[in-house]
Amino acid sequence: MTRQLFVTTALPYANGKFHIGHIMEYIQADIWVRFQRMRGHQVHFVGADDAHGAPIMIAAEKAGKTPQQFVADIAAGRKEYLDGFHISFDNWHSTDGVENHELAQDIYRGLRDNGLIEVRAIEQFFDPDKGMFLPDRFIKGECPKCGAKDQYGDSCESCGAVYAPTELKNPYSALSGATPVLKTSDHYFFRLSDPRCVEFLQNWTTEPGKLQPEVLNKIKEWFTKDEEGQGGLGDWDISRDAPYFGIEIPDAPGKFFYVWLDAPIGYLASLKNWFDKGGPAAKYGDTRSFAEFMASPDIEQYHFIGKDITYFHTLFWPATLHFSGRRTPTNVFVHGFMTVNNGEKMSKSRGTGLDPLKYLSLGMNPEWLRYYIAAKLNSHVEDVDFNRDDFTARVNADLIGKYVNIASRAAGFIAKRFGGRLSADVGVEGRVLLDTLRAHRDTVTGLYEAREFGKVLREIMALADRVNEYVDQNKPWEIAKQAGQDAVLQDVCTVCIEAFRLLTIYLKPVLPALAAQVEAFLQVEPLDFHATERALGAHVIGSYQHLMQRVDPKLLEELFAAPEPEKLIPGGEELAPEIKIDDFTKVDLRIAKIVKAETVDGSTKLLRLTLDVGEGRTRNVFSGIAGAYKPEDLTGKLTVMVANLAPRKMKFGVSEGMVLAASHADEKANPGVFVLEPFPGAQPGMRVR
Ligand code: 2FM
Ligand code: ZN
Repeated sequence: MTRQLFVTTALPYANGKFHIGHIMEYIQADIWVRFQRMRGHQVHFVGADDAHGAPIMIAAEKAGKTPQQFVADIAAGRKEYLDGFHISFDNWHSTDGVENHELAQDIYRGLRDNGLIEVRAIEQFFDPDKGMFLPDRFIKGECPKCGAKDQYGDSCESCGAVYAPTELKNPYSALSGATPVLKTSDHYFFRLSDPRCVEFLQNWTTEPGKLQPEVLNKIKEWFTKDEEGQGGLGDWDISRDAPYFGIEIPDAPGKFFYVWLDAPIGYLASLKNWFDKGGPAAKYGDTRSFAEFMASPDIEQYHFIGKDITYFHTLFWPATLHFSGRRTPTNVFVHGFMTVNNGEKMSKSRGTGLDPLKYLSLGMNPEWLRYYIAAKLNSHVEDVDFNRDDFTARVNADLIGKYVNIASRAAGFIAKRFGGRLSADVGVEGRVLLDTLRAHRDTVTGLYEAREFGKVLREIMALADRVNEYVDQNKPWEIAKQAGQDAVLQDVCTVCIEAFRLLTIYLKPVLPALAAQVEAFLQVEPLDFHATERALGAHVIGSYQHLMQRVDPKLLEELFAAPEPEKLIPGGEELAPEIKIDDFTKVDLRIAKIVKAETVDGSTKLLRLTLDVGEGRTRNVFSGIAGAYKPEDLTGKLTVMVANLAPRKMKFGVSEGMVLAASHADEKANPGVFVLEPFPGAQPGMRVR
């Protein structure tokens, strides 16, 4: 029966490049997907960028881009990695796509109509300068337990304490430095504590054969209330206040979905986008709509994810789907983290150690990494360590020493002595060997299906060992020297080539590019698992080209060498793109006299300046320099201002221009703001050019 599978990997935040942790997950999922395709199943393998949320909005602002432009620029860099490591996604989309806006709003309406949404007023820290509620990560202060300075709003890196941001001592906004104030606002909650949800999730998570046992154990902890009745499944705050880069909540002006509500819906959005583009029709002749596909009872839906986001995928996500009247995932496959050279954690934020692009740019073979990662993966939630010596040994000794060498040992004789032609039939010993290889097909496919990739490769290498024993016993290089032994030589070499073809079928999900080279060399159609049932017979093969280089340990030295010191950039900031003189003259810079400077009530950052630019009136300008100057330092001084800037309405009044000041790009490390002052003699109103 042809299965129909919808497979995803976790959607990466669109605020950074891929690191090795992402690549590991994609390789794991890709191997499984390629395996399924090789069995003749129909797979829709989709990904997308996770575009929303406060961190991305803030990063975009810092980069001087709209969030849309910011995430588009990140998205443009994805292909290089995906193609580079042979990751065969059918579609890549964005959670900011129109499909996701529609689906998220639709799903929300479903939850609401089911009585599972509740509005509650909650108190939160608000940044008065930025005019926005602060996510926990953007509130800093002193740890309430140990007093360590500059700790985040959720936990202390020094003593490990976990607390609410409101417990911090001397809190400040990491965005503006302002002291946050408590402010009340309505938030929308998904009532997961509703008995219907609890019951559904208890059933869903414990369905026999569904989740990995260690995942289920973790979930049981999450369900359990402690003696004080704390813990258990809490309601989930799914709204955030404007300004927020996200999807608007229907009938709730100024409210947006928290990024984690719409992120997994992005799986569906990417699949819908793929269907709307006609992907399944072109690939499989499947002309159903996305909705029809999702409504078919026999489709299967799988999500590959890392262990850190299990909660979202095994509780929030199935509940979101179920209570909005949709199908729930067939399964969620959780993997551990990737560590490098013994446990140094490859977290999402500190993606150091093994840079995937550097790996590719050094000319290292992507299939070495696919093979190595596969060799270390199993179906459990265990971390995978990249160890350079182990990497070199496995690739050189196993992949090349055991597998690739089989072809190189036999191909030359077939080409030189037999014009590329194989024997129509081989002797008993050879037939027994080939039958043994064929007989392992179900073991191999069973292990792939169960995501036991380490085991499957050990199985395949054990088969390769048997083939090499056969070669060692039959010694084709000696037969070749004996007169009248041509038929024997041809048979032995035919066995080797046929065995090599069978091993290539088994390895193809892991090594797709190498398998394509082998297909060209053997002059055969693309190999799938049915191809084990056939034999090459008196087939003519092509000439053997070296299939794979050994790992040179020097490459690993280079890969892990400390990066070049960053090139010196003036003031820590890249120069802006070149402009023409016309661009410059658009900016009207004038000498301004600071007639008055005052503090602003309710802001620690701003000063109100009254400026004279010789117009017969004064201008009101707010400037973020209160941290650097007292009003009396400035009053009476001359400075330079942008005089033709459109007036800007701010919380404290209208600002009619901007004074110029210098600062370092990294103000934390290099503090200081320095207002410009002209040489003596300049008069208010003079143009600066
Ligand atoms: O943890 C992360 O990187 C999230 N961006 C994963 C989202 S997975 C899915 F829900 F979109
Ligand atoms: Zn502490």
